[in-house]
Amino acid sequence: MNVIAIDGSSSAGKGTLALRLAQELDYAYLDTGALYRGVGYELLQNGLDPQDEEAAVKVAKGLSVERMLSLQDDSCIRNEVCGKAASYVSRLPKVREALFEFQRRFALFPIKKDKTPAKGAILDGRDIGTVICPEAQIKLFLTANSEIRAKRRYKELQLKGLCVIYEDVLSDIIQRDKRDQERQTAPLKPAEDALVIDTSDMT
Ligand code: C5P
Repeated sequence: MNVIAIDGSSSAGKGTLALRLAQELDYAYLDTGALYRGVGYELLQNGLDPQDEEAAVKVAKGLSVERMLSLQDDSCIRNEVCGKAASYVSRLPKVREALFEFQRRFALFPIKKDKTPAKGAILDGRDIGTVICPEAQIKLFLTANSEIRAKRRYKELQLKGLCVIYEDVLSDIIQRDKRDQERQTAPLKPAEDALVIDTSDMT
């Protein structure tokens, strides 16, 4: 199993690093946050509360493999509302359980976008090095101070043409980190053997 696990807080640079490494190494890439966002999105679309455990578990169990593979390219899930919903559904152990098998399989049998097998996988998320792939050869944990992360996120949202307030973005990031770090199941924390990288002063 050739796996690179990249964990860390939101807007610390996980996705950028994962994508570039995947291109460089010709590995398959899975953005696991997209799975939780996908569950949140589905609930919101159906007028359901992301904190409704029964509904969230039903949605998570109902996601097809095709849908899970395509979620990371779905622009509908890339907004703050879905990010927040994702951080609520991700606190539910049964939701995490429902999404576990797919992530594990992807790491064991990585497939690229063109559906061909890859020689390795890069997964990014919050619990890849600790829960999904504790045996990954390389584990990276990215952090950056919250103001810098909020500025990055703010810029990204502005570039998408969205009208956002910096203070709201900062407060969302702080609250989302808090929920991710304080949850009982698979909290956001570096694996003991992870290399911690602070990207605050990096581009
Ligand atoms: O990485 P992204 O911001 O897309 O993740 C959205 C949310 O999904 C996170 O805030 C976190 O609550 C949850 N998540 C998780 N475990 C992962 C990936 C994401 O709990 N492996």
